[in-house]
Amino acid sequence: MAAVRARLCSRNPHKLEELRAALSGWELELLDADGYPPEDGASYYENARAKAQFGLDHAGPRVWIIGEDSGIEALALGGRPGVHSARWADDGVARLLAEVAGADDRSARYVCELVCLTADGELRGAGILDGTLAAAPRGSEGFGYDPIFVPAGETRTVAELGDEWKRRHSHRARAAQALFAAAPS
Ligand code: IMP
Repeated sequence: MAAVRARLCSRNPHKLEELRAALSGWELELLDADGYPPEDGASYYENARAKAQFGLDHAGPRVWIIGEDSGIEALALGGRPGVHSARWADDGVARLLAEVAGADDRSARYVCELVCLTADGELRGAGILDGTLAAAPRGSEGFGYDPIFVPAGETRTVAELGDEWKRRHSHRARAAQALFAAAPS
């Protein structure tokens, strides 16, 4: 089969790099478009699907279109902010630290859902990264909540572990590995 040409419906270059590593042989670029739909779905899947549909409407069916949605879920907050992570607060890290202050259990997880629209239909991949919330931000790589997220089995935050670590182990990398496995070879 010829190399898969795909577009990621996102403006986030970190996400692109995390996906590229897992989607071996795919020619993956960011979709160059404005006016993405609001992330107001009830699930990661709905948001990812809406982004992919927007991408398909924009780019047409010549390339595979990947929609992505992700978030962080804190156990002490009953899974919040979850699917609302992106628009939860101007400073999500500060709010999350404030809301879990004093909690006995600082467990959290990152979740990622990918939806890929192809000429033949829809492929999906999901990934989870379990961990705990640090007491204060540490590290400079990654983005978003990475300075306060310590993956299970690690002592450093994702922002300290760095982009190379994320390309292999993040929730997004895991979702991309699942998507790659689901794709026809
Ligand atoms: P979205 O998937 O672009 O809607 O982002 C969801 C929210 O979750 C954003 O606020 C991100 O900061 C956060 N988030 C998702 N994935 C990650 C990650 O890999 N690191 C840090 N924050 C993330």
